[in-house]
Amino acid sequence: QDVLKVGIAGLGTVGASVVRLIAKRDNRLAEAAGRPIRVTAVSARSRRKDRGIDLSGARWVDDPVSLAADPEIDVFVELMGGAEDPAKAAVETALGHGKAVVTANKALLAAHGPALAKKAEAKGVALNFEAAVAGGIPVIKTLRESLLGNTIERVYGILNGTCNYILTRMAEEGIAFEECLKDAQRLGYAEADPTFDVDGFDTAHKLSLLTSLAFGTLVDTKGISIEGIRSIKPVDLRMAEELGYRVKLLGVAQRTADGVEQRVHPTFIPKDEAIAQVNGVLNAVAIDADAVDLTLVGPGAGGDATASAVIADIVDVARGHRTAPFIRPVSALTKPSRAPM
Ligand code: HSE
Repeated sequence: QDVLKVGIAGLGTVGASVVRLIAKRDNRLAEAAGRPIRVTAVSARSRRKDRGIDLSGARWVDDPVSLAADPEIDVFVELMGGAEDPAKAAVETALGHGKAVVTANKALLAAHGPALAKKAEAKGVALNFEAAVAGGIPVIKTLRESLLGNTIERVYGILNGTCNYILTRMAEEGIAFEECLKDAQRLGYAEADPTFDVDGFDTAHKLSLLTSLAFGTLVDTKGISIEGIRSIKPVDLRMAEELGYRVKLLGVAQRTADGVEQRVHPTFIPKDEAIAQVNGVLNAVAIDADAVDLTLVGPGAGGDATASAVIADIVDVARGHRTAPFIRPVSALTKPSRAPM
């Protein structure tokens, strides 16, 4: 059978899990995809680092852009992170060569999603990014495919596992912010620069993608009002608790008379509401639509959880399953709205 040859750029927490899980679930994936899936080439910053994975079947390529152009790979998996080069150049190169791209890079898509989606459309290849929002929760597929028969009024949720982990531990154990953040880094939840997590930018990047999918608008991160969790202390959370509330960092996008309003901020939520009980690294995405209201809850960060979404995207490519990058052709999208607040 025709093997799907996968090239992976970036072997951090998520990349290493993808390599390991593809090898471990070999037969099951081949059955689901109708063809074997193999990681045949990789690229990362350090060649020598011991990642506890078997890379004997994969060629090492020093430069991610060369990997993206490599005629020996069918799909380019970008797990380097960062909104600009080398991630941007590598994804552009892969699409330019007519290769499908799978990425977990929300910062890249928030900054350049529409341009990359146009490139993918022009070449007729997939640009899949399930892992870019809410880790292991299949929310992109839900919005792109499962809810197409709905008009969506509001999408909101807990979109950053690091912040939810910090807020949960500060509330439940009274541990200081810095210590909780260090633990989140140690567990592989935080971004390379955790400012993106705690100052709300990562939530905003993810929200901008959800907004585009839910409302059929262009990705517009600049229009989001953003407040993070850096100034919150355990004592604030204890007081909230006494008053019957939990504090969560929410991303919210909702239809208004003037367009789609997008915002990110810590929010007091009554303790008995379901979303208030989503704790630790879990994320939640609530979708209020005309036919269906639902809430998805699951792990929002971490190697295996995020890898599970990457692998589903790779299997879709192997099956030849093509979805429109942002539900409808990018040329049909409009700006979400004026900036709220
Ligand atoms: N740093 C992110 C988080 C990783 O904590 O949610 C997943 O996107």
